[in-house]
Amino acid sequence: MTTPSRPEPRPGLLDITPYKPGKAPTPAAGRKVYKLSSNESGLGPAPAALAALAGVAPHAEMYPDGAARSLKAKLGKTYDLPEENLIIGSGSDEVITLLLRAYAGEGTSIVQTRHGFSYYWIAAQGAGAEPLFAEETDLHADVDAILRTVREDTKIVFLANPNNPTGTVIPSAEVRRLREELPPQIILVLDGAYAEYMEAGDDYTDGADMVREAMASGADNVVMMRTFSKIYGLGGLRVGWAFGPSSVIDVLNRIRPPFNVNALALAAAEAALGDQGFVDRNRAHNAAERARVLDRLEGMGFTAAPSFANFLLVRMRGADEAARASEAASLLEHLESEGIMIRAMGGAWLPDYVRVSIGSEEANDAFLAAVARFVEGAA
Ligand SMILES: Cc1ncc(COP(=O)(O)O)c(C=O)c1O
Repeated sequence: MTTPSRPEPRPGLLDITPYKPGKAPTPAAGRKVYKLSSNESGLGPAPAALAALAGVAPHAEMYPDGAARSLKAKLGKTYDLPEENLIIGSGSDEVITLLLRAYAGEGTSIVQTRHGFSYYWIAAQGAGAEPLFAEETDLHADVDAILRTVREDTKIVFLANPNNPTGTVIPSAEVRRLREELPPQIILVLDGAYAEYMEAGDDYTDGADMVREAMASGADNVVMMRTFSKIYGLGGLRVGWAFGPSSVIDVLNRIRPPFNVNALALAAAEAALGDQGFVDRNRAHNAAERARVLDRLEGMGFTAAPSFANFLLVRMRGADEAARASEAASLLEHLESEGIMIRAMGGAWLPDYVRVSIGSEEANDAFLAAVARFVEGAA
């Protein structure tokens, strides 16, 4: 073996395409800008969280509780879950990273859906594992395709439900079928980042029931992930969490950085949990505004995937994919020139779509007015 003349990263790391966050608009003098590119809360942060931040800030010299006991206790009460089976991460992104470091790696693979969350495959490559993509049917996860894609070396299957960037949901019976038909050595990670946007009465499972059942039968192969970044409005603070079998939580705790979630974030998340009225208001705001934005877009000739989350995946109007992709590029440029940022979808194998988050009424109005000007200009 020849000795390299400079430090070299592990094989494969330089092949990773870095995660592309939603663009932030560049403020220009006298112009309002709107960021609708990262699926952030349309009503801002939970107000109770702001008061908690002010309370903790004067003690910033102190390390946080590395075990996050107080937040876990509150989560346990709020969602009726055993607190000893919870783990808190610096965003659910960190939980994804920990799961991959713990269970995947060189010579293994993970499975996700074609238009699933991009950090799954980026983090998989970071851990040395090969990401495999199961094709979707009409922008919905296809359980049979997922099962067909699984290989002998597959360690984890990631399913976001609702999914980002499609916004679509698969019914609880399909999630259950996936769990039942997956080989027992594979962990099914059910990502409920947008679960709180679902309405009572929707045919939906966040997966907590399946984690409980797996635990009761000693199967240990289902994990549910959640986040404070969306409906609680705390994306900037970075708090996510997972509910899983003791054996999995124990392994993740062994490799987790000792103080992985900062004290301000822990306190804010705990306070936000105590304000379920805000969660209800945000859900109602999102449902009403999503319907309004969709209606206006459809009136201008666009269509969108059926969304259950706080964003819309919008299909452009052209007759073929090339024409639609070209319109997507022009629309993105036009909106950017007006200080409105939405998300390009080429990286998700959807070049003829754009994704727009449902923001405040004012932001949504600004977006719709800018799209109307674009449509008029193109006519
Ligand atoms: C499906 C899904 N999972 C996980 C995340 C990560 O969220 P966070 O790390 O902010 O908790 C996101 C963020 O957009 C997401 O859309």
